[in-house]
Amino acid sequence: MGVSGTPRSVIQVSGIRKTYGTTVAVSEVSFEVSEGEVFGLIGPNGAGKTTTMECVEGVRRPDRGDISILGLNPFRDVYQVQNRIGVQLQQAQLQKRIKVWEAVDLWASLYSKSVDAARLLEQLGLADSRNAWFMTLSGGQKQRLFIALALINDPEVVFLDELTTGLDPQSRRAIWDLVRGIRDRGKTVFMITHLMEEAERLCDRVAIIEHGKIIDMGRPEELVGRHCPARTVVLATANALAEERFRAIPQVETVVRQGSQFTIRGLGEEFVSEVIQCLSENRIRVTDFRTMLPNLEDVFLKLTGHSIRD
Ligand SMILES: Nc1ncnc2c1ncn2[C@@H]1O[C@H](COP(=O)(O)OP(=O)(O)O)[C@@H](O)[C@H]1O
Ligand SMILES: [Mg+2]
Repeated sequence: MGVSGTPRSVIQVSGIRKTYGTTVAVSEVSFEVSEGEVFGLIGPNGAGKTTTMECVEGVRRPDRGDISILGLNPFRDVYQVQNRIGVQLQQAQLQKRIKVWEAVDLWASLYSKSVDAARLLEQLGLADSRNAWFMTLSGGQKQRLFIALALINDPEVVFLDELTTGLDPQSRRAIWDLVRGIRDRGKTVFMITHLMEEAERLCDRVAIIEHGKIIDMGRPEELVGRHCPARTVVLATANALAEERFRAIPQVETVVRQGSQFTIRGLGEEFVSEVIQCLSENRIRVTDFRTMLPNLEDVFLKLTGHSIRD
């Protein structure tokens, strides 16, 4: 926390641009990340997410724009920055026959300080695999090892790029818990994902990036409220007067009927409550009741005109 009690800004990116030949990978990207926050960059393949992150890590140099991390310049103060951040490796960067404990030992030796390796492996559920070769680990175990390596120097900021891509749902959930654990230890997390559910569950704030530009940024629920204010209730009732009552609900936009099933769409956070109140006041008995609430996926579709998976 800063002196004023407001969270300290740990990453400041201002107007960065990065081109590769004629490809504009990142164009005019600006954002800030606060201490203790999980900040996510979300967007489709090729959007410029990794390039942006690697500029912040000091691995790539932007053509123009300014970056500050922990009050330092990632290019001028490279050693200080590297000591205080943790970066998740990509698959190809570890030898097949390195053992889990050897990798952790090697990484620990690269930094001026490190946490207790045995304890870290224990925390990440890798204690039993400490003698296993990297190549024999499952996808989930490899990702946990990468998290261990990213945490070995007790970093203040942790960078995670597509951490759960290719994992099964169960391993993915386990990794999500680990990321929450990193945040709970007071660290700042800067992560990349193209999984909207992952972003919704983990990120305090997200920036949606496409074609190298941030198209909007905010808390997930804030983005949903801003771009997709519509709420939908699907219910079933045999009550003959129901349709007329539904049409009188405040903020209702459309009522579509198919037999005894109604799809009622309206605007605003209060809309679902209004529908429930209408059912109660008019003693309308229902045999089915579901809400369909918009999520980040819908926001993405609304902002870009296509699904993130296309
Ligand atoms: N080293 C590189 N050389 C040339 N083009 C690159 C390089 N790295 C990325 N690009 C291009 O820059 C764009 C953004 O890439 P990247 O930052 O990896 O996107 P993302 O991580 O969102 O998938 C893509 O068009 C990609 O092909
Ligand atoms: Mg990438």
